[in-house]
Amino acid sequence: MCGIVGVTGRDDALDVILTGLQRLEYRGYDSAGVVMDESSDRLRVVKRGGKLANLTAALSDESISGSVGIGHTRWATHGAPTDSNAHPHTDPTGRIAVVHNGIIENYEELQATLPDATFSSETDTEVVAHLVAREVEGGAELPDAVRTVLRSLDGAFALCIQDRDTPGMIVVAKREAPLIVAHADGVSYCASDVAALIRHTRDVQALMDDQVAVLTPDGITITDLNGVAVEGHAYHVDWDLDAAEKQGYEHFMLKEIHEQPTAIADTLRDRLRPATGPDGSPRLHLDECRIDEGEFGRIDKVFIVACGTSLYSAMVGKLAIEHWAGIPVEVEVASEFRYRDPILDPHTLVIAVSQSGETSDTMAAATHALDQRAPVLALVNVVGSTLAREADAVFYTHAGPEVAVASTKAFTTQLAAFLLIGLYLGQQRGRIYGSEITDILNRLHHLPGQVEQVLEQDAAIAELARKYASTHYTMFIGRHVGLPIAMEGALKLKEISYLHAEAFPAGEMKHGPIALIEDGSLVVALAPAGHTFAKMVSNIQEVRARGASVLAIGTDGSTADLKAHAHDLITLPEASHELASPILAAIPLQLFAYHVAVTRGEDIDQPRNLAKTVTVE
Ligand code: AGP
Repeated sequence: MCGIVGVTGRDDALDVILTGLQRLEYRGYDSAGVVMDESSDRLRVVKRGGKLANLTAALSDESISGSVGIGHTRWATHGAPTDSNAHPHTDPTGRIAVVHNGIIENYEELQATLPDATFSSETDTEVVAHLVAREVEGGAELPDAVRTVLRSLDGAFALCIQDRDTPGMIVVAKREAPLIVAHADGVSYCASDVAALIRHTRDVQALMDDQVAVLTPDGITITDLNGVAVEGHAYHVDWDLDAAEKQGYEHFMLKEIHEQPTAIADTLRDRLRPATGPDGSPRLHLDECRIDEGEFGRIDKVFIVACGTSLYSAMVGKLAIEHWAGIPVEVEVASEFRYRDPILDPHTLVIAVSQSGETSDTMAAATHALDQRAPVLALVNVVGSTLAREADAVFYTHAGPEVAVASTKAFTTQLAAFLLIGLYLGQQRGRIYGSEITDILNRLHHLPGQVEQVLEQDAAIAELARKYASTHYTMFIGRHVGLPIAMEGALKLKEISYLHAEAFPAGEMKHGPIALIEDGSLVVALAPAGHTFAKMVSNIQEVRARGASVLAIGTDGSTADLKAHAHDLITLPEASHELASPILAAIPLQLFAYHVAVTRGEDIDQPRNLAKTVTVE
């Protein structure tokens, strides 16, 4: 997520901003910038792609002062991490400067209301500066101008706005993206989280959705979008800095597990565009496409290449693409792909899945496909990553930066993305129409709320983890949509708790793996209601009969039989589509692995021998 720091009323405002941005570096970003009110006749904007060091180096070449300013570290969502796409953004006259965290969904429609405007970036943010400038040029006071513009925005935002001609003032607003404000000792502050402010004050106010705050050295006033006075959520921050960076969670992994409702909502957001086609129905679109989109309608074979956790999301992707697009799909370990002779041609699509977009094995597989003239679609989380740049087309998850080595929110957003990719390919092949897609998307929009429901079981799952934390061998079993989650659950457990775990198709048990079952074995069985449920109950009965302890993951409607045969049960809400159920099933296994590792005192965010991104083969 982006980082925001703003201050008004201090002569060392620039130092406060840069220090605050450094406190927010953990959030992950790929460009940074500041705006200062150095003099009454202009705003000074300095911004650079890359790390903060690039910005501070640029600033050291220019002596910038001022008592009011805003700083920003950007995690790219629209537009690569370049100098021009870095925030702040200004209107063409340089009067209004804006920084933004979030996604403005209707930015293209808003741009169309400014037919004579020229935009200097690829971002969804820049249009806000143009719109606010148009209002103040029309005579509106800055706060009123901002409120007018905000009422036209769709999507999520934390916005901070400065006006050259309104010295000393910063106007901020939020919807779904976090923003806090504070006033202490004649200075007003704003930031995307408390880590940037606790050196200056621990008494802050969190703005609520659609609240607008006006910051001056004299204090802070908060209103709603219509200018009616309201209150933010005031609180005192007890955290130390380390806790603040994790927003109160003990580890980044737990923070990122709990960010999944927002990450999934952001990944599903804004995927339909009004159709230009004859039937007039909305159409799904890719984030980037450098080939003729018609090519996707002529695809007759798909390979999905990935590593680790991303490989397991690919297994669900296979089911989604075959279900909605009717194309045969092979899932391949990326590190093996180029050693065999995969049959590739211009009608074979290779989907390369990678949170980082930098995994060398996945890059090598994608390069092999490109050399064979097969189109490559990158499913990545990092905008502007190597894989995103080199692929023919890109579909971005919007998980935000994932700091913990163990992947969680990147995984579930990949699962959500694959549902959309399956629908997209079906759309391109004329197998599914806009009205059906819209119906399915409307059902998928229940997912974030259902993930929240599962997260509410955290304490109960922690209790189960403590119960099984000494189990030295755990077998995960599943069928159909449950199998990829069994594989991912085994990986999560072994990579952070170092306990031996493996996963099998439940139907394989009798072909060998059941020989491993003895008293004290733990079997985690993915047993959602559906067409594989009865067989999963049989598998549970056969391992229990041989002494295993059984932890079943069931869904509403399947719990009676599971309670009769499993020792422990975690019940999930029934997903709005069977292919979405893996997203819900992944959550308890993430939490189980996390709490087992915490119980065993292991290093959660940086497990031994592992790196967040494997850039060597
Ligand atoms: C998963 O928890 C691990 N961190 C690892 O398996 C990871 O998924 C794999 O290295 C692939 O990384 P990528 O998605 O960035 O390509």
